[in-house]
Amino acid sequence: MKLIVEPATRPLTGTVVIPGDKSIGHRALLFSLLSATPVRVLGLGDGADNGRSSKAITALGATVKRDDQALVIAGTGLLGMRAPTQPIDCGNSGTTIRLLCGLLAGQHFPTTLVGDESLSKRPMRRVIAPLTCMGAKITGQGTGDDVTPPLTIGPAAGRLVATEYTLPMASAQVKTAILLASLYTDGLSVITEPGPSRDHSERILAYRGAPLTVQGRITTVDTRGWDRRLACDGFEVPADPSSAAFIVVAALLAGAGEVRLPGVCINPTRTGFLDAITAMGGHVSIEDARAAGPETIADLVVHGPARELRGITIGGDLAVRSIDELPILAVLAARARGTTIVRDAEELRVKESDRVETTCAMLRSFGISCEARPDGFAVEGRPDHPFGPGNVHADGDHRIAMAAAVAGLVASGPTHIDDADNVATSYPGFAAALTDLGATIASVR
Ligand code: S3P
Repeated sequence: MKLIVEPATRPLTGTVVIPGDKSIGHRALLFSLLSATPVRVLGLGDGADNGRSSKAITALGATVKRDDQALVIAGTGLLGMRAPTQPIDCGNSGTTIRLLCGLLAGQHFPTTLVGDESLSKRPMRRVIAPLTCMGAKITGQGTGDDVTPPLTIGPAAGRLVATEYTLPMASAQVKTAILLASLYTDGLSVITEPGPSRDHSERILAYRGAPLTVQGRITTVDTRGWDRRLACDGFEVPADPSSAAFIVVAALLAGAGEVRLPGVCINPTRTGFLDAITAMGGHVSIEDARAAGPETIADLVVHGPARELRGITIGGDLAVRSIDELPILAVLAARARGTTIVRDAEELRVKESDRVETTCAMLRSFGISCEARPDGFAVEGRPDHPFGPGNVHADGDHRIAMAAAVAGLVASGPTHIDDADNVATSYPGFAAALTDLGATIASVR
């Protein structure tokens, strides 16, 4: 699928209902498999990635039924999973495959996990190494310095053993895989991470009764004496800040009046992009912050266009807290005065595409100078002229396609974005949402 974006001729304005958070949606589904009682999940996004997690838990014995606005999931409990009859297809979803590794590590049956072309290239040693230390048996495809899908997991020889593990990189997927496997041990596991990766798993598992505590960067799971029961009746998935970021930047670049995004998750491990926008001189109001289960949500309000943006450096914890938003922040940086440097973000190289290279290539196609670096990139802002009309190949990466579409709003002619089908993995209604705000975008098969 190709997207064709016309330069915005009227300012964007209106309200956008952002779909449910993809990361929380995966956890709502996968953790409900472990639940002893049925869980009503409201607000789940309609992205294909969450659909992969839904199919996976069905293959492992859960039943998933739609009831009005909610999904009702009847899980198997920790000890009742059944062997799938065929390989589980994780599609494009790194979160599905890595979290399943943790869920399946302690099972007494084998499972094969497969993925699409992009997922089949992504590194899995990061989960295999710690889970193997806990007693899991996981094999995959060797590509020299890493292991890639398809993966075969189990059967586990016996009960998994508790672990003390320090993650080499800040990764919520790896952390969660270990947390899930820890539930199948009989002991005290201590997991330390080097940076503030998203903490939805810790919040949701504790909310559902897992024996888990968090102190700074250290999470402990102590299963001694625990009845291995997880339960909660209902759960609401808040709007996805990573999807919201595209609309927020669109409003900052091409908006006027008010663009409002109700009920967005403002967990601090996810709001690095808002801090980066503030540091660049942009303004996003955070209104009516309120609790939603284990998370906090708020309405985001943007009064565009942003004037006098300036280049900044994004590194350290801020890079971790905005890792999925760096492609769209790069588009904003291209409209800021001066250079924006992204560093400490080598993880970008192993996302759905090599996002250091694909972000730079995307910006260059609009005539913006962007230098790729081993751990990030440097963007030369061009605030005084429109971008050239872009001709972008999204490389099958949803976030590159959506970032390019937002850049196309302030280009001097129509922008063509090829290989954009995977927008549907996280935000199928993205083009419609921008259209409702006043943009002109066509999807062409
Ligand atoms: C995710 C964690 C992050 C993020 C990904 C979703 C999650 O990846 O980039 O889009 O839901 O746990 P890593 O865990 O590899 O950092």
